[in-house]
Amino acid sequence: MSQKLAISALAKIPPENAHNLSISALRLNLAPKIVGFQSRKLETRVAGLQLASPVGLAAGYDKDAVVVAPLLRAGFGFIEVGTVTPHAQGGNPKPRLFRLKRDKAVINRFGFNSAGADAVARRLKDRPKSGIVGLNIGANKDSRNFVSDFIEVLMRCGQHVDFATINVSSPNTESLRDLQQKQHLGSLLDRVIQARESLSRQLPIFLKVSPDLESSEVCNVAEAVLKAKIDGIIATNTTVCRKHLRTPGPYEKGGLSGRPLFNRSTQVLAQLYEATEGQTPLIGVGGIDSAKAAYQKIEAGASAIQLYTALAYKGLSLVEEISAGLEQLLDKDGFASISDVTGTRAKEFL
Ligand code: FNR
Repeated sequence: MSQKLAISALAKIPPENAHNLSISALRLNLAPKIVGFQSRKLETRVAGLQLASPVGLAAGYDKDAVVVAPLLRAGFGFIEVGTVTPHAQGGNPKPRLFRLKRDKAVINRFGFNSAGADAVARRLKDRPKSGIVGLNIGANKDSRNFVSDFIEVLMRCGQHVDFATINVSSPNTESLRDLQQKQHLGSLLDRVIQARESLSRQLPIFLKVSPDLESSEVCNVAEAVLKAKIDGIIATNTTVCRKHLRTPGPYEKGGLSGRPLFNRSTQVLAQLYEATEGQTPLIGVGGIDSAKAAYQKIEAGASAIQLYTALAYKGLSLVEEISAGLEQLLDKDGFASISDVTGTRAKEFL
């Protein structure tokens, strides 16, 4: 009940203020209490990471790693902080976050507002050691060399996290997404993998891709990932597509997330599963708002899932609801574990 009241109160104020308030509530321990669903059946291993649950928090909610401990307590099997840039930067001018209520979606054009790698590293140093925490790495807007920026963030923060994600898929930093193209991607991935060797921990490196890639580009990404021995792919980031929306236009510029992203991001996920022949762990993200949607991502090829936008509409208790629902769906279909479901229906989502 208190969560319902909080959500309807937050829905009445500008979305970025609502976001900041939700972070403050978590920080001050004022958020409604979540019990956190636990089940041995949901435990799973992804790219060497032992997850208590396959349900993760996507990048962009806790950009500066200020609420890592309360988020881990909310029942996520893993969380991803960031995107973090080498130097602090303010991001795009406000307003830069917009609700599309009828679509259960949002458009954001934050443009990597970040406290910077040093500030985030100081916070991550004190994070709880139990629980899996990843770091989404990015580049400064005025950077002359995006690849060096990724490596700089990895070097400064890498020793405090369990995995890192190369973000070449945000639509809000000009020309960042070009790095997904064949002529750039191979050398970018090789350089990051090489840089990892100088860290004290050989943490898994993931690549986060855009849902706006053509099928041939998805195949090129899969090829480059296999060649560079990247540990996993996160599919997908937000879209610049505005098709099939109920909310009347004109639409704001930026990346769209939430329910309308589900079909396309699941299709890209399935394409990646087929193109990598199930060899590379995939994390499915985009439009998950129920246990059924999470299960479909797993059927399409995901080993674990992440979500963000639906939390703004349904609250943190959604994490528990999805976890409990996943266990029921496993039982219904007679599967013993999440990994038994991964990719079982990939072809149907192509
Ligand atoms: C995001 N997302 C995102 N992704 C990323 O890699 N780095 C980032 O900094 C952000 N920032 C961000 C801010 C906001 C307000 C939103 C809504 C999203 C993308 C996010 O991690 C995810 O990939 C998409 O939102 C799709 O998942 P959902 O939201 O449909 O569950």
